Amino acid sequence: MSDKKFYITTPIYYPSDKLHIGHAYCTVATDAMARYKRLQGYDVMFLTGTDEHGMKIEDKAKEAGVTPKQFVDNIVEGPRGVKDLWKLMNISYDRFIRTTDGYHVSAIQRIFKKMHDNGDIYKGVYKGKYCKPCESFWTESQLVDGKCPDCGREVIDAEEEAYFFRLSKYADRVRRLLEDTDFLEPRSRVNEMVNNFIKPGLEDLCVSRTSFTWGIPVDFDPGHVVYVWVDALSNYITALGFMNDEYHDYEKYWPADVHFVGKEIVRFHSIIWPAMLMSLGEPLPKKVYGHGWLNFGGEKMSKSRGNVVDPYILAERFGVDALRFFMLRTFPFGSDGNFTNELLIQTINTDLANDLGNLVSRTTAMVNKYFGEHLPAGCRDWAEPSPADGELKELASGLRERYEAQMEKFQFQNALEEIFKVIQRANKYIDENAPWALAKDMETNGPRLAHVLYNLLETTRICGVLLTPFMPDSMGKLFAQIGACECCRTWDSAAAWGALSDTAAPAKGENLFPRIDMEKALAELEQAKAEAVKAALPTLEIEPLAEEKVDFDTFCKSDFRAVKVKDCQPVKKSDKLLRFTLDDGTGADRQILSGIAKYYRPEELIGKTLVAIVNLPPRRMMGLESNGMLISAVHKEKGEEALHLIIVDDKIPAGAKLC
Ligand code: MSP
Repeated sequence: MSDKKFYITTPIYYPSDKLHIGHAYCTVATDAMARYKRLQGYDVMFLTGTDEHGMKIEDKAKEAGVTPKQFVDNIVEGPRGVKDLWKLMNISYDRFIRTTDGYHVSAIQRIFKKMHDNGDIYKGVYKGKYCKPCESFWTESQLVDGKCPDCGREVIDAEEEAYFFRLSKYADRVRRLLEDTDFLEPRSRVNEMVNNFIKPGLEDLCVSRTSFTWGIPVDFDPGHVVYVWVDALSNYITALGFMNDEYHDYEKYWPADVHFVGKEIVRFHSIIWPAMLMSLGEPLPKKVYGHGWLNFGGEKMSKSRGNVVDPYILAERFGVDALRFFMLRTFPFGSDGNFTNELLIQTINTDLANDLGNLVSRTTAMVNKYFGEHLPAGCRDWAEPSPADGELKELASGLRERYEAQMEKFQFQNALEEIFKVIQRANKYIDENAPWALAKDMETNGPRLAHVLYNLLETTRICGVLLTPFMPDSMGKLFAQIGACECCRTWDSAAAWGALSDTAAPAKGENLFPRIDMEKALAELEQAKAEAVKAALPTLEIEPLAEEKVDFDTFCKSDFRAVKVKDCQPVKKSDKLLRFTLDDGTGADRQILSGIAKYYRPEELIGKTLVAIVNLPPRRMMGLESNGMLISAVHKEKGEEALHLIIVDDKIPAGAKLC
């Protein structure tokens, strides 16, 4: 095992809803980083997991009629749950922590006790606003128009006994950490933290609650549960075995090399987390990196805004690797990015289909076409290289260094840009050397042609090695197509021009990144989205039963009769109405119009016995009079209204009263 260690984490996710592509953004970035470090020969620990406690989860479980544990189990382990999504996205995590895991729960109790015993956690009174019907505490700023954000009712001033963490005690040390070191990046986040939170004065933090129960109990004071963020942040050390016996990697991996986190939770990671570690007397993580959000339509993607993008739909349509690549190629990691399907398709077409895909397919096809199974031995070191050969060789040989410089700063977009500059140069090199023209006179130009094609294979190989952390599966296929053996897929080989054998056997294979028809794909995505929305709806929706009571006499005033359909016709210019001529037992025909055309063909209803209410006042529709109403059953199926006429036994005579 390598003595070079690298410990990287993602935030642990709230399993309150299914995850979306915004959540996948951070995890994909972490995965690319972890794979890059493994490629470099590091012994990597990549941790992810789920943050399963808190009032929100408790409420959601109640709504769903299950226990909180059943609720989170389904979102974490169930179909299309968190673990499924990471499998789909090819996330190579080494460890997955759930904050409901027994070892974590007892470690949190010990951590809380230690901070209590050293005087950093003390008992006090939490003052806030309280909504009685919801049994919820709120802070002033959480209220909406001064009312409960959940139910909109009046709140009252209330107090709750609670434990507090002496955050204020660590304010100066945390400020120095932020201002004087590179602990928090990008640098702009430091200013946000210092100006918005530290300068106004850090107050002690309420770290226990008694108003809900779905949390880790404070073992020395039953009735209190540990504040979710104390529980959640500690995952980074409990998952290594801190204060528990489940794992024994704390000494080996802590402190973390980097915590990747979204910008809205930088505050917890760069102020509260270091202060907690200071209190525990443990080393601080080396770095916190606050990345930007993936927005959609200019706003943060989130379930409540209804603008989430489903990773399953995109992965199915475009492939996981293309999706992973897109997220890190298109947006600078430290800033927000606006996701659009057009941008995704454009990136796939330009970078992957045109630039990379073409380079691979053209090169391998030309080797096979002009030389058969492989290039002639010795073509790598052909004695008469041109200046353009030298230029390509130098650019490709120096790529690893330029790429590494960007990866070390988590600048994935720039690292990929470096690779694509080389790919573009290689495509230009094909056009400059026009292999098809050289091939016309193989006797004279054969050695030159072989050398040109070798240079292209070798450039492709180097780019492939460095793209592996981003697109692991596709690069495996690329290596197979250019005939690269295991030893020329390594980090060392990426800076060693000529590692590919000149008699390696390339074989043009499936198109790695097929070009996408923008219009067709956009239409397909729209349809897939609509279907997903429909599928997510409860299959059957039935109107709630009426609460208001009707007295018997009022009910009896409604005159329901069996009626027989003598004729049924569509109504001109209406796609809703059918015109019924009915026998209601009186001897005279009765005309009723019914909005049922979407569900029945007129002819199939002739002769049927239906039920009508016959004492409604006449109503005109589309210039025709309707005398009564046919009774039907109404419900919703997959969000759409469905109607079924009440068709009764034909033995019932026309005019029979229903009561
Ligand atoms: N449970 C906390 C983290 C605790 S870490 C000790 C949490 N969970 S979360 O599920 O709400 O968010 C997890 C991560 O996903 C956060 O870093 C958040 O920024 C990120 N994202 C959620 N939506 C996002 C986008 N639309 N774009 C990018 N990242 C986003 O916070």
